[in-house]
Amino acid sequence: MTILITGGAGFIGSNFIKIWNNTSENRKIINLDKLSYSSNIKNIPIEIKNYKFIKGNIGNVNLVKNILHKYQPDLIINFAAETHVDTSISNPKIFAQNNIMDFLNFIETCKYYWANINQDKKEKFKFIQISTDEIYGSLKKNEKPFAENSPYKTNNPYSASKASANHIAQSFFQTYGFPVIITISTNNYGPHQHTEKFIPKIITSALHNTIIPIYGDGQQIRDWLYVTDHCNALIKIIKYGIPGESYNIGANNEINNLELAILLCEILDKTYPKKNYETYKINIKFINDRPGHDTRYSIDSTKIQTIMKWKPIEEITSGLHKTVNWYLKKLKLFK
Ligand SMILES: NC(=O)c1ccc[n+]([C@@H]2O[C@H](COP(=O)([O-])OP(=O)(O)OC[C@H]3O[C@@H](n4cnc5c(N)ncnc54)[C@H](O)[C@@H]3O)[C@@H](O)[C@H]2O)c1
Repeated sequence: MTILITGGAGFIGSNFIKIWNNTSENRKIINLDKLSYSSNIKNIPIEIKNYKFIKGNIGNVNLVKNILHKYQPDLIINFAAETHVDTSISNPKIFAQNNIMDFLNFIETCKYYWANINQDKKEKFKFIQISTDEIYGSLKKNEKPFAENSPYKTNNPYSASKASANHIAQSFFQTYGFPVIITISTNNYGPHQHTEKFIPKIITSALHNTIIPIYGDGQQIRDWLYVTDHCNALIKIIKYGIPGESYNIGANNEINNLELAILLCEILDKTYPKKNYETYKINIKFINDRPGHDTRYSIDSTKIQTIMKWKPIEEITSGLHKTVNWYLKKLKLFK
């Protein structure tokens, strides 16, 4: 089986490549990534077999056409996107260009490829679009989690661009029968994430002894999914997912930002105590809130749990320990 992965030098894509590579010998992986600031080519171990990296933009029609023609993938997973909400607020056009227009070029080129492959391959082919729970918008504390049929109600340019891509993907299924599956996951954490994101930012700020910034009052709730659990859900979806369907992938690990920052500081206090044994917590500082900051994200993953017998297995505390240890090693601080 040949798989085309886009955005595989980023956080989730690179974790997925490692896990996918371990699932079977007989697999070829093509990774198309434009290598933006959030990526790191070193995220993918050199020992990965049957692996080809191509630097480029998913919106480059000729490049994508050539890749599809040359490697004839059986499956495409699109992780590629601009992903930082704060940057989308300061520069929304980049997000519209990358996550909507480049994506439209990409899916159209992939649809053309699929329409012209042999019947057997065509029937087995899947295009998986990786999306985010931010498309559903914000929940109040006591409201029920969002299900796959909840309406989209985006509150920032990032989520708006991701919701737009989902609408385009869904329309390609309805209009052309292109076998799209949309996966919608909660906040991921784990190794390889860029330090601009919440958990790596807390860890690296603490270790660099700078302020640990918390937006607003820190009461925003997120559901944290360990990246390996996400990748394992995707492997189930590759096998059992039905074109035209979308699948929520949640973790049942709801925690507010302040509590999470405190928990990370406590883990660091134990694993990498400061020389004077002062707690890292004293560096936590509240800063001006992000405009349009969503209060709570929570999704109902009953569908994937029931149909595919998937469930998240990483507890938040063990997942955070693993993540902290990874950043300690990366920063060459591990004792
Ligand atoms: N990180 C999360 O918590 C989370 C949660 C739910 C969904 N998602 C989605 O998962 C996907 C991956 O997220 P991530 O956290 O790994 O992001 P990331 O920013 O770490 O990685 C994105 C990768 O995509 C590449 N890329 C971006 N635009 C591209 C383009 N036009 N052409 C080629 N390559 C391009 C970048 O170079 C980078 O390597 C995204 O679609 C994101 O919306 C992320």
